[in-house]
Amino acid sequence: MQMAPLVPVMSANADWLARSHAAVWHPCTQMKQHERLPLVPIARARGAWLFDFDGRRYLDAVSSWWVNLFGHAHPKINAAITAQLAELEHVMLAGFTQRPVVELSERLAALAPGRLGHCFYGSDGASAVEIALKMSFHAWRNAGYAAKTGFVSLAGSYHGETLGALSVTDLAIFRDAYAPLLRQQQTVPSPDARRAAAGVSAHEHALGAASALQAWLEEHHATTAALIVEPLVQGAAGMAMYDAIYLARARELCTQYRVHLIADEIMTGMGRTGTMFACEQAGIAPDFLCLSKGLTGGYLPLSVVLATDDVYAAFYDDDVTRGFLHSHSYTGNALACSAALAVLDLFRDDDVIATNRTRAAALTALAQPLAAHPKVTGWRNLGMIWAFEVDSERDDFARWCFSEGLARELLLRPIGRTVYWMPPYCLSDDEMALLAARTLEIVDCA
Ligand SMILES: Cc1ncc(COP(=O)(O)O)c(C=O)c1O
Repeated sequence: MQMAPLVPVMSANADWLARSHAAVWHPCTQMKQHERLPLVPIARARGAWLFDFDGRRYLDAVSSWWVNLFGHAHPKINAAITAQLAELEHVMLAGFTQRPVVELSERLAALAPGRLGHCFYGSDGASAVEIALKMSFHAWRNAGYAAKTGFVSLAGSYHGETLGALSVTDLAIFRDAYAPLLRQQQTVPSPDARRAAAGVSAHEHALGAASALQAWLEEHHATTAALIVEPLVQGAAGMAMYDAIYLARARELCTQYRVHLIADEIMTGMGRTGTMFACEQAGIAPDFLCLSKGLTGGYLPLSVVLATDDVYAAFYDDDVTRGFLHSHSYTGNALACSAALAVLDLFRDDDVIATNRTRAAALTALAQPLAAHPKVTGWRNLGMIWAFEVDSERDDFARWCFSEGLARELLLRPIGRTVYWMPPYCLSDDEMALLAARTLEIVDCA
């Protein structure tokens, strides 16, 4: 007869949890909080679902920090990366080039608004923001405007966590500890529709914010290189949505005052707001377009800054120092570019933008009881983003809601009292019904 083991049997989850605690420093986390709120070890993922080591599952309603576009383990993206792996995994991009990076650059430039003819690659979103800021300053310097060293961003903006990106970020929780390391902050009022005074429409509020931008540029344009914005949705500020008129006015003002417009579409790009790029909804083209997150469908780190032909020309010279000498070792990584090409193929072949419109209408309809719930305010939706504030007395609402979500097979990650959905573009009707019904259950007991 076999004896039962004398040592206690830990679940596979518990084992990975303990090892992760001992060895991994997790991002955006006060690690001590994990004493009360355990990490979630994930073994595998398929479609919209994440599975842990003990067989539990979670619907990835935030696309794994807004990166995953078509679900996990997508067969076409898997196949594209595998095929590329057999040819070339990586070659340095200084002095060399390769098929995926050329094709991706051509296709992005063709899709992007305006004449954004050259692509400069980085790895994460923050590195794209660094590139755009440096490029803007340097382009002006090459053009004889060396005094243009400043940047201006919107109140509540988020552009990443490296020092340059953090300098144009206006969220105290990320910024304050590092304030002594950052550049002087310059912000203008946000067009965030939630901040509109009673009786003022989102459109009027956005026009008011644009007037404030005009006043600011009038005074500071000579020392300002660029305005950087998250077009239509300020994600980390709590999915703050605003009227497209602001972007249209900002484009006019930037042109009038000779200030670059940097569109940080790291979160809003790749179809997330209902058009391929959010800027399209304002009918504008920026001077720089930053993309990352969904660019590879959530598979591999890759970011890109598309720059106008004019900006590119400002660097093209016999003098080496007038060139853009910025670099990252993995710039234009071939595997990441092959994933991004597969993503663009899916957009082209599956008519994703139109399909998402139908999907979004279905989820919005299923969410009506939630939108009408007495504890819910500020219900909003744009493309494949839904958000609302929850009227709750709980001090720790975000963590409480996250735990309640996990208990109901949902990955929700509220920002303060703002609950949002930013699901992958593959939710079935049943998955949408589950998401809406279980979020409603949580709000019921908030
Ligand atoms: C608008 C925006 N810009 C920049 C970033 C930074 O991207 P990353 O986290 O890849 O550095 C983010 C990340 O959430 C973002 O939402």
